[in-house]
Amino acid sequence: MLDKLNEIEKTALETLNVVKDQAALDSWRVANVGRSSPLMQVFAELGKLSKEERPVVGAAANRVKVALESALTERAEVIKAAALAKSLEEDALDVTLPGRSVHLGRLHPSTQQLRRVLDILADMGFQVYTSREVETDEINFQLLNFPPNHPARDMQDTFFVEAEGRGDNPILLRTHTSPGQIHAMREYAAMNPESPPPIRIALPGMCFRYEQITARSEIQFNQVEGLVVGENITLADLKGTLIDFARRMFGQNVRTRFRASYFPFTEPSAEMDVECFVCGGKGCAVCKDSGWLEILGCGMVHPVVLQNGGYDPTRYSGFAWGMGPERQLMLRYKIDDIRYFWGNDLRFLEQF
Ligand code: DAH
Repeated sequence: MLDKLNEIEKTALETLNVVKDQAALDSWRVANVGRSSPLMQVFAELGKLSKEERPVVGAAANRVKVALESALTERAEVIKAAALAKSLEEDALDVTLPGRSVHLGRLHPSTQQLRRVLDILADMGFQVYTSREVETDEINFQLLNFPPNHPARDMQDTFFVEAEGRGDNPILLRTHTSPGQIHAMREYAAMNPESPPPIRIALPGMCFRYEQITARSEIQFNQVEGLVVGENITLADLKGTLIDFARRMFGQNVRTRFRASYFPFTEPSAEMDVECFVCGGKGCAVCKDSGWLEILGCGMVHPVVLQNGGYDPTRYSGFAWGMGPERQLMLRYKIDDIRYFWGNDLRFLEQF
């Protein structure tokens, strides 16, 4: 019986040594210390032994049981440690690897510039007025003092949307933001037709022209129009406002000049130049050696236009201007091709 116990202990410990994982350990436990294991068989048979043999074999069986159980606990520890080491190794994180860069979206450069312009004008007391992109010939041209067949229409080649059956008033894509002046004046005048309120607004938005697309001309571009109407508004107000705007936009020391020009909806009309900020006025490729950059067209609102908007030109006067955010960006960043703006090339867009 004692030999048998020794044999049980020896084989059990030998097989335990090759147990490598939890599942094998569980079956080992059932086979070697479980209820129907050879060891438990010995305990069951103790009763059959003689009085002298029983305590000796009983003590030996107990010793084997304790030995196997402690060997089992030890093995369980080893397996647990090995499993932990393995998972640590497999899930190892190399904290020295460079991260993946996150691509953030951003505003289109035109939108950024549009917002810079509107921020400055808001500080100067202008409210934003948005107007439609699809217009009638009447509002885009006629009420702005371009009669049908007027030669000034040649400056703004037009995309027509619907001409059939509309005579002299086809539907078109606005060629400039100036028709917004008519909508705004009529809306303000309707508030109090006897005595319309003063107006100080900025009108931003996309304009469209039927042009050959080249490095210098596009079929779509943004404009920001300004309109001020009230009593006793003079050319001095126009100059003061636009010079202030130029200083806020291009720097406090920037020099400006006004040149006489022609637009049907203003009288007198002018264009404003700022000193070339690339060469400081000395002359370079960007300003074509003139030292000046044209940034906007402007003028005193023509009496006919005031009348068309519902403002009595004998009582009210006003000034207006129109400028292009894309043009400002081209000058500022020396962008030599306007087609980049709508080309959707990320190499261009990501620089802003
Ligand atoms: N509408 C003109 C254009 O697109 C720009 C312009 C000139 C707007 C003079 C004005 C203005 O309001 O007074 O060429």
